[in-house]
Amino acid sequence: MTGILYFSSTGNSLQIAQRVKDRFGGNIIYIPKYDGDGSEFQRIFIVTPIYSYGLPTPVFDLLPRLDKSKEIFVIQNYGGMVGGADALFYDYAKQYELNVKGIYTIKMPENYTLFIVPPKFYTKSVLKSSNKRIDKILDKIENKGYELPKAKVNIAKKQTYLKNKGNWHIIGDRFSVNDNCVKCQKCASICPSKNIVFEDGKIVFKDNCIACLGCYHRCPQKAIVYLDKKSKYRYVNPNVNEDEIGKNS
Ligand SMILES: Cc1cc2nc3c(=O)[nH]c(=O)nc-3n(C[C@H](O)[C@H](O)[C@H](O)COP(=O)(O)O)c2cc1C
Repeated sequence: MTGILYFSSTGNSLQIAQRVKDRFGGNIIYIPKYDGDGSEFQRIFIVTPIYSYGLPTPVFDLLPRLDKSKEIFVIQNYGGMVGGADALFYDYAKQYELNVKGIYTIKMPENYTLFIVPPKFYTKSVLKSSNKRIDKILDKIENKGYELPKAKVNIAKKQTYLKNKGNWHIIGDRFSVNDNCVKCQKCASICPSKNIVFEDGKIVFKDNCIACLGCYHRCPQKAIVYLDKKSKYRYVNPNVNEDEIGKNS
């Protein structure tokens, strides 16, 4: 059985994970709810967004405990620039002696949209070609055209990534809810780091945000606002059922 371990806040990685399952079968597993080591699977796919030219915290935390004997294929997706995130992933994989066979990157719509919003036509065209581009990667894996990053990890970039990762929790302090909030608590239930709680009748953001922006994008009322309190563009991948983000299947 293939294990398709994924992290996703707005559905891009889930779209890819589902495409992997359509091709190779297996179980789709949401990483933040998974405490295993992958030993129950014959081979493992890790499908993850790129964060700050690196890895989201739940994926970073998964790597050290993964079974070293299993073949691992990694599909990283990004909104604008890989920035060496593939080399960084490979560097960590080697550090933990993981049996990584291939690392592939694919462009998907940008979800880091707190400051810059990509033009609609651009997001549409990236989505339109996405399945074709995912399939190209899966063809390579199926035909054993395994690819690994040739470039060595850039130490300065690695340090910047680790610094950013260490600061992500601050983003949580900058979120608040506006008057549109109906206290449905969906944000609290989908938060992968349990950073949002309902206390004394209020939505409260704690200090362990991992900056995934899932709450911001997926609030049904667009009531979660960032520093400037303006309600802006929200994105959820239209090729997946939003309720499936964060679930196993
Ligand atoms: C905190 C954060 C950091 C990000 N950093 C990068 C980055 O360094 N390079 C990039 O191209 N995209 C970056 N992105 C965009 C995501 O990688 C991209 O939109 C991805 O497809 C989202 O996947 P998901 O829908 O499965 O969550 C970032 C997104 C977030 C939330």
